[in-house]
Amino acid sequence: MLQLPKVIGHRGAMAYAPENTLESFREAAKHGATWVEIDVKLTADGVPIVMHDPSLKRTMGIDRLVADMRAAELPAAVPTFEQAIACFGELGLGCNVEIKPCDGREEETARVTVATLRKHWPSSLPAPLLSSFKDASLAAAKQAAPEFARALLIGELKDDWHGRAATLAAAGINTNGKQLTAPRAIEVKKAGYALSAYTINDPEVARMLVAMGVDCIITDAPDLILAGLGR
Ligand code: G3P
Ligand code: MG
Repeated sequence: MLQLPKVIGHRGAMAYAPENTLESFREAAKHGATWVEIDVKLTADGVPIVMHDPSLKRTMGIDRLVADMRAAELPAAVPTFEQAIACFGELGLGCNVEIKPCDGREEETARVTVATLRKHWPSSLPAPLLSSFKDASLAAAKQAAPEFARALLIGELKDDWHGRAATLAAAGINTNGKQLTAPRAIEVKKAGYALSAYTINDPEVARMLVAMGVDCIITDAPDLILAGLGR
């Protein structure tokens, strides 16, 4: 089965630094994380960058869409995926790479993401885990680079989760921990998947999820959750 750490820093460690920045990855490592989760999408000229929203407005105060901007126009605080990978190499961090495509670029974003990983991912690090809410992205990743483990991101697990995960040959399910029920957690674990829950910042909730069978907690504050889990 897919081996994941007990805790993954969400967008780096967004409780301590601006999300999805090199500073956030450094803070994650400082606060005990051994892995981080990041969101990858493409610029207008096809460069993979680390950014959650389709627009730069919320995080960078620039009212423009990523899909309309060339990489050279981005503020320096927005890392390219390649810069992020180099930073993980320096810090010794593993990564859950969430493929977060702009609309209509589901397959292309996955193909560029895995090509970048093949070229730049340091062999000294644990193999990355790909995840996405988009079945089309995971299907494209599976076709282009089956060697990278995949996790299906699902907000709330419904009855169709297993069929989707099986079609994508996913090794893991990453789900919203606040919507996860014990019966669903048991179902996922019985079926042999690694189970991760996001975005959990309350140590008590983290303990409850781990007791339900959750393997990995994705959190903005890795130190709090590690302490809460007695690690
Ligand atoms: O990958 C876990 C989590 O990041 C998924 O939701 O919206 O924070 O990317 P979001
Ligand atoms: Mg994400």
